[in-house]
Amino acid sequence: MTDHTTSQTGTPVSSDDQSLTAGNNGVTALHDRYLVEKLAQFNRERIPERIVHAKGGGAFGDFVVTGDVSAYTKAAVFQPGAETETLIRFSSVAGEQGSPDTWRDVRGFSTKFYTSEGNYDIVGNNTPVFFIKDGIKFPDFIHSQKRLPGSGLRDADMQWDFWTLSPESAHQVTYLMGDRGLPKSWRTMPGFGSHTYQWINAAGEQFWVKYHFVSNQGNVEMYGEEAEAIAGADADYYRRDLYEAIEAGDFPSWTLKVQIMPYEDAKTYRFNPFDLTKVWPHADFPLHEIGIFTLNRNPENFFAQIEQAAFSPANTVRGISISPDKMLMARVFSYPDAQRYRVGTNYNELPVNAPKSQVNSYTQDGAARHGFKPADAPVYAPNSFGGPTADAAAAGEGSWESDGALVRAAATLHPEDDDFGQPGTLYREVFDDAAKQRILETLTGAVGGVKSDEIRERAIQYWTNVDATLGAKLRAELAKAAAGIETANEAAEFVGVAK
Ligand code: HEM
Repeated sequence: MTDHTTSQTGTPVSSDDQSLTAGNNGVTALHDRYLVEKLAQFNRERIPERIVHAKGGGAFGDFVVTGDVSAYTKAAVFQPGAETETLIRFSSVAGEQGSPDTWRDVRGFSTKFYTSEGNYDIVGNNTPVFFIKDGIKFPDFIHSQKRLPGSGLRDADMQWDFWTLSPESAHQVTYLMGDRGLPKSWRTMPGFGSHTYQWINAAGEQFWVKYHFVSNQGNVEMYGEEAEAIAGADADYYRRDLYEAIEAGDFPSWTLKVQIMPYEDAKTYRFNPFDLTKVWPHADFPLHEIGIFTLNRNPENFFAQIEQAAFSPANTVRGISISPDKMLMARVFSYPDAQRYRVGTNYNELPVNAPKSQVNSYTQDGAARHGFKPADAPVYAPNSFGGPTADAAAAGEGSWESDGALVRAAATLHPEDDDFGQPGTLYREVFDDAAKQRILETLTGAVGGVKSDEIRERAIQYWTNVDATLGAKLRAELAKAAAGIETANEAAEFVGVAK
């Protein structure tokens, strides 16, 4: 027997097609509670999209430890033999919910490990660095990459104005304008925790670490024209690719590796190891394998399991902590705050966000709370009724030395803390000749879109600082393109065609 339609309170309804009216042609009755319920629920289907990384997709999977990093962290999730359920969400940064997947952008790489000791999230990108070093600049940075307030259009002048006035962005912009800015698919891109995190072992020793997710599908990119054609033909290209691969049993995987720096070395290293615009050279800090992260289960409901998923750098577990990276400290505040607004105060009770381990929190009530403890359970701490108690050893929080008065100042300089050295190395030593040609073409188009002469000149200087040859070539290409436009305009005038 087929089930009958009911209202949300379970009462069978008499029609899915006709509203209740006074006669066949008469006015609609306000007490048609089923009609009202349908329309009202519909009006409330959308929640705010993420303020950044709005367009994305994801899947569930598992993480199996294959290496042995137990000398460096006591985190249960990374101990030999551990297997953990996981969730991933990939995304683009700047575009809104419906924006095409293949617009050039950095891609988000958010992972959630449902560990036996609480949820652990690594919320990173497909690049190892970022545009800025201090969270106080994040809203300005994002405003410059989104839309003009008047026209609602994206604007090259805003983008390049911000980047060129923030030279610490050069390393990330080199990645973005290079091939990394257009992956072939989410499956064929790497992931990075980007920040420096702290690990603590069973003996209480501390280490600084950086995470790398190495794609076992290889790193494959696409190039300008292909991406533009796909953006028009299939805005959901990456989302579809991931979903269809998993449906077909072709499960993508990444090997999670880690660079490890002894705690004391951070004090004397040649550049600030907590600077999010820098990579740690592998020659100094080689990769150690932790395990394999495989995606093998598509969401059953995109909204409930991907849209309402809440990833946060604040979600750490025993044996893992944050570091004195100012960006990371700002993020620890920002994500739970965004999620209380975007999803609701009790977002961690939703099945996709709830840990698989026990929750013993004294928080209570709030909109849409549905979990509760027995009526006689104490509701405050400390209490004399046997309620849960805090345990510093179980928490295993990290720490670091810190001193000095409260100041608003950049981090103390190390000898090699410049903005342009590492992007220059990336361009000269990692990009091959074809990749160098592609970034030149991309930059010619991107900087060519800038209307202000002053900002365009600053952009040429910015790339000259990254690499003098690249800067000179960019200047020449922009001049050629400008001359080409003038020639085209003159030709158009000659034949009387409107410009
Ligand atoms: C999403 C803030 C830097 C990667 C978000 C969200 C906020 C935010 C508010 C939306 C969260 C939500 O509604 O669920 C910030 C701030 C930053 C910062 C204030 C700087 C201080 C970064 C950096 C990375 C990053 C450095 C990567 C290394 C992501 C990713 C998402 C995201 C991947 C999407 C999460 C998801 O898939 O749900 N960010 N962010 N962000 N951010 Fe950041």
